[in-house]
Amino acid sequence: MELLNYTNSNSSESEASLLSSKDKKKKVNLKWRYLDVRVKLLIALCVLSILSNILFFLFGLNFKRSFNYTDDPQSITISNYSSYLAPISLLNSSFMFNSINSFLKQKDCDVFPVGVSYVPASIPKDTVVYHAGSGIPESYEWVAMDVEFSMNFAERSRSAFRGSAQVEHQRDLKLHPRDNKKYGPREDINFCEVSKDMEPFEMQRSKPGKEKVPTTLMSFRLKHDLDKLIYLDGASASKTSETGEMDTQALLYNQIKKTHPDFDDGSEKFMIERDYAEKICKWGEPLGIQGYVRLELGFEFVLCDFNEHLEMISNVSVASANKFLDLPEPIEISKDNGWPINCTDGFLIKEELTADQRKILELEDLRYNHLSSLDAMNGWEWLKAGNKHNKGEDKINLDYRYLVSAINKTELDVDNYKWKIVDDSEDSKDLQNEIFSDLISYYSNVQRFDPTKSTNWQLKTEGIMEKFTPYLKNIEQTLNDQEMLMIDKAFKINQLLHPLIKRYADQYPKKYDVDEIINTGVWEYTHPTHDLQTKADKLIFSSLATVTKEIFTQLITIHELSLTITNEYLKNGKLDDQNKYYMSFAKEQNSILNLINGLNWISFGYECSLKCGIDEICFTPSWGPSPMGWNSIKEKEREDQQNKEDRELAPGFFSDERSGLTKIKSEQVCLGLNYLLDRSMKRKF
Ligand SMILES: *[C@@H]1O[C@H](CO)[C@@H](O)[C@H](O)[C@H]1NC(C)=O
Ligand SMILES: *[C@@H]1O[C@H](CO)[C@@H](O)[C@H](O)[C@H]1NC(C)=O
Ligand SMILES: *[C@@H]1O[C@H](CO)[C@@H](O)[C@H](O)[C@H]1NC(C)=O
Ligand SMILES: *[C@@H]1O[C@H](CO)[C@@H](O)[C@H](O)[C@H]1NC(C)=O
Ligand SMILES: *[C@@H]1O[C@H](CO)[C@@H](O)[C@H](O)[C@H]1NC(C)=O
Repeated sequence: MELLNYTNSNSSESEASLLSSKDKKKKVNLKWRYLDVRVKLLIALCVLSILSNILFFLFGLNFKRSFNYTDDPQSITISNYSSYLAPISLLNSSFMFNSINSFLKQKDCDVFPVGVSYVPASIPKDTVVYHAGSGIPESYEWVAMDVEFSMNFAERSRSAFRGSAQVEHQRDLKLHPRDNKKYGPREDINFCEVSKDMEPFEMQRSKPGKEKVPTTLMSFRLKHDLDKLIYLDGASASKTSETGEMDTQALLYNQIKKTHPDFDDGSEKFMIERDYAEKICKWGEPLGIQGYVRLELGFEFVLCDFNEHLEMISNVSVASANKFLDLPEPIEISKDNGWPINCTDGFLIKEELTADQRKILELEDLRYNHLSSLDAMNGWEWLKAGNKHNKGEDKINLDYRYLVSAINKTELDVDNYKWKIVDDSEDSKDLQNEIFSDLISYYSNVQRFDPTKSTNWQLKTEGIMEKFTPYLKNIEQTLNDQEMLMIDKAFKINQLLHPLIKRYADQYPKKYDVDEIINTGVWEYTHPTHDLQTKADKLIFSSLATVTKEIFTQLITIHELSLTITNEYLKNGKLDDQNKYYMSFAKEQNSILNLINGLNWISFGYECSLKCGIDEICFTPSWGPSPMGWNSIKEKEREDQQNKEDRELAPGFFSDERSGLTKIKSEQVCLGLNYLLDRSMKRKF
């Protein structure tokens, strides 16, 4: 409640002062006849008028400052919208189009991993969010939108090694000790010596640290709307540094360091993203910024102040799988304990096992397999939860009016994987300054973001994709068909596009006006549902209109040509002069195939051709930490990994030799629980 009052403090304060001045007036009214009272009244009036002047002056300044952003609504109509649009190249428009369409979608943000936009976001009151850790954080911390995500941090231990896995683990500890000095060169290792330091036989590996409060899975309710968040698009929690996924955070960090030399750096942190969080929260506090939303596997946000915004509703010490099963302590399989271990290579000497030992080993293996399968379920649940967000994260809303983006501010590569807005170049410095000052002006002028006042542009991109993907894909397939004759291609295109053109062609052919069709079509698919107010509105609307206009133009052109060819053929069952059309058809074919290539819509691929089973998901791999490991765009980083498993490409990726990057395959795979179980059995750490 206190907090609600706090956010409304401005309005309640002015209400309070209004009341008190009314009260004063009442009292004054009774005695107005006396001169001294009249003089006092006059003075009071003067003071009031001076005060109100000052107020108006201040308010006026404020008003002027925010004028550009909120108080200049532009209503536009089908007949005058084009005068509002600003020029933007097709490629830049297409970047904007795909960015907008990808916002808050797991799959899309993985397929286009580098985001260069900051979007004001809000999450409604009473939404339940999660955090795993020891106690309620005193400072900024990470909050997950999915319980399955947090669960993986709540239960970080895995079951103790048993049976054959324990023998393997002992070998591993000696071959790859954490502390490299402990063991000498390979030949010196005595595999029979049990490394007590590593506590290989304990039931549960506990996290080191002095904290007294155990790690728990905590659920919280939002005490009020979080209405001043920043959403960072792309794979913004991938924890990379060389590639561009985290550049939107790096940009803020650089600028804050530059403009606030007084902020000290705090204690050294394990990961740079903690430094980012510390600085961004400190800088954002006077601007009312509550945190920022990122994508990992599922969405999370860095919340700058837990106590202000969250109320705990549940707190669970998550028991490890092992505690649910009524199992004895693991049996120590060591030389000391009478097991035939080969001290030279650390393997069990199978032939020397006694009948009893064989039985024990078999039982321990069975126990370990079942425990591992329970452990693997955490990862499976997390994967499924992430997969659910391929369609979006509906609990988070965006206010597009105040989007700040590098798109159309700088030259970006055709290939999203190569986007990089933060580097040492002068261009990058200018860009960083420009973006930072745009953000400051929006966040300092807008009290709270309100997605309901913004056109939901993503609904527009989705509508356009749903409508035009089948046309474009069908046309592409038709045009690329080597067996098909030109006339058959013309027939097919005429057939495909007839319904689209017919819908706009009033009294064909008498009043057939291509410009009119395009104008109507573009408006129909892109029109805003709220008055346009800001630079961002203009950028987005212009981008969507530019893309849609190009699609209409190309479709109409190829349809007109196809119709001409069709009509001539249908006159007497043949074309008199094939060659007459051959060149122009080839030209149009080329042009539309280029367009399809340039649009690069996610809807052109990234599906499973086969329907997945009940215990499977159609899997798009993600970047950064996940149950499927940690994947990097840079091929080199993968190739340099220590573990063999980490050097292998995870499912869903391919190695793009031309660019030297790891990328996501367009054909996706169904991935089942069994895959994760196998993987969990194979991994030692
Ligand atoms: C477009 O027309 C509407 C309705 O007539 C008008 O209110 C608006 O100001 C016009 N907008 C522009 C940008 O000309
Ligand atoms: C959550 O539970 C843990 C373990 O029972 C306990 O130590 C901790 O104090 C609890 N935290 C809160 C905020 O209640
Ligand atoms: C022990 O391991 C070494 C090295 O692999 C091997 O040469 C030797 O034959 C093994 N001893 C037994 C008894 O299996
Ligand atoms: C996109 O916009 C930027 C900034 O205006 C410009 O430098 C760049 O050339 C544009 N890209 C294309 C392909 O037009
Ligand atoms: C895109 O960038 C160009 C060049 O900087 C600029 O002239 C144009 O107005 C921008 N378009 C939009 C829609 O912001």
